[in-house]
Amino acid sequence: MNAPKPAPRAGDSGIKPKALTLSVRVPTEDLSYPIRVGPGLLARLGREVGHAQDGVSKVAVITDDNVEPLYAAAARESLEAEGFAVSVHVVPAGERHKTPEQLVSLVSALVDAGLSRRDLVVTLGGGVVGDMGGLAAALFMRGVSVVQCPTSLLAQVDASVGGKVAVDLGTGKNLLGTFHFPRAVVIDTSVLTTLPPEELSSGLAEMVKHALLFDGEHLDQILAAADAIGRSDASVLAPLVAHSVALKAACVSRDPMEMSSSGKGRVLLNFGHTLGHAIEHASDYGVRHGEAVAIGIVAAARLSERKGVAAPGFEARIVEVLEQLALPTGLDQWLTGEQGKAVERALSRDKKRAGTKITYIALADVGEPATLPLPVPEILSLLRPQSAG
Ligand SMILES: NC(=O)c1ccc[n+]([C@@H]2O[C@H](COP(=O)([O-])OP(=O)(O)OC[C@H]3O[C@@H](n4cnc5c(N)ncnc54)[C@H](O)[C@@H]3O)[C@@H](O)[C@H]2O)c1
Ligand SMILES: [Zn+2]
Repeated sequence: MNAPKPAPRAGDSGIKPKALTLSVRVPTEDLSYPIRVGPGLLARLGREVGHAQDGVSKVAVITDDNVEPLYAAAARESLEAEGFAVSVHVVPAGERHKTPEQLVSLVSALVDAGLSRRDLVVTLGGGVVGDMGGLAAALFMRGVSVVQCPTSLLAQVDASVGGKVAVDLGTGKNLLGTFHFPRAVVIDTSVLTTLPPEELSSGLAEMVKHALLFDGEHLDQILAAADAIGRSDASVLAPLVAHSVALKAACVSRDPMEMSSSGKGRVLLNFGHTLGHAIEHASDYGVRHGEAVAIGIVAAARLSERKGVAAPGFEARIVEVLEQLALPTGLDQWLTGEQGKAVERALSRDKKRAGTKITYIALADVGEPATLPLPVPEILSLLRPQSAG
């Protein structure tokens, strides 16, 4: 049977057209941005926004209901002094409000405030406000600029730098997000004086993480300043925050979009977080992020030592560091009994995302990170108290 011939198309000359390949290059955006750190910088926010981008007339400040009464007036005053029309948008504080619903109402608020694509969003708050406000800025009219003005220690040394923005889904943290690099980061270390002590510890755990990964001298400086840090002494904190942020920024700039799975890329910043996240999850978020990361750092030190990557005694050394900073170190309770099972389940969920193995971040020594691809059962058997087998 003859196959029916295709009907000739208009302009069909019978000659096969050559594949046409057009090469078009889009110039990449300059992703660099200034990070200013120091006491009293909130008073300079307006000027920093003016430098960050030309042509801004409206600024929307996104904050939460703890930070708003403390610092929104100062932010507004500084912005208005530079001639910007300011609107302030307040979200309820806390991780449980970092949701798609809050995100959509924030974007609607930006519409109502009459922002245009040339205008700008300032996030004023902890990591929740920075992540959710940054995502609202990334999505509103396909993206307006954001200046991050972090007010918790964790947001100052970690969340505000690196361009990751997100909200949580019921099924997991930060699952709805993107990269949206800020135009500037303005870090006023004086605002840390009002931060609750447990939130200060949370940020301290991330500072210790950066120091252990990249800079032993910085670790010594943190330990020498332990008392002043506990008192939130802004003059002592400012240079430490600046150094910690510089360590994160250097890592981010080597691998801005987290494409590298080993070496010196952003994956290293997961140090302490593999077990840390599992503990957070297993405790139903009863254990704070920073506390969980501190315990996760103990786990990473133990695994490094038992795997023969670090010298004997390394775990004890790291435990001592964390104890000097009043950070928790109680790992064993998370490896046995019901809590141990919950941690194992959480780790296995992590595993599904990464394939069969987790890229575990170990340390050969302070300042010498190493990536180890390991299956979950091996991680757990390396970590379990040796008497428990
Ligand atoms: N984007 C990233 O790269 C990145 C990195 C790390 C963490 N994060 C995210 O950051 C979030 C955690 O950040 P967080 O610890 O700042 O939490 P948070 O935003 O909930 O802030 C902690 C608490 O401190 C309050 N607060 C903030 N600044 C204050 C101040 N100066 N004085 C008094 N109270 C103040 C807040 O209202 C809140 O109650 C998580 O959602 C996490 O996923 C993001
Ligand atoms: Zn963290």
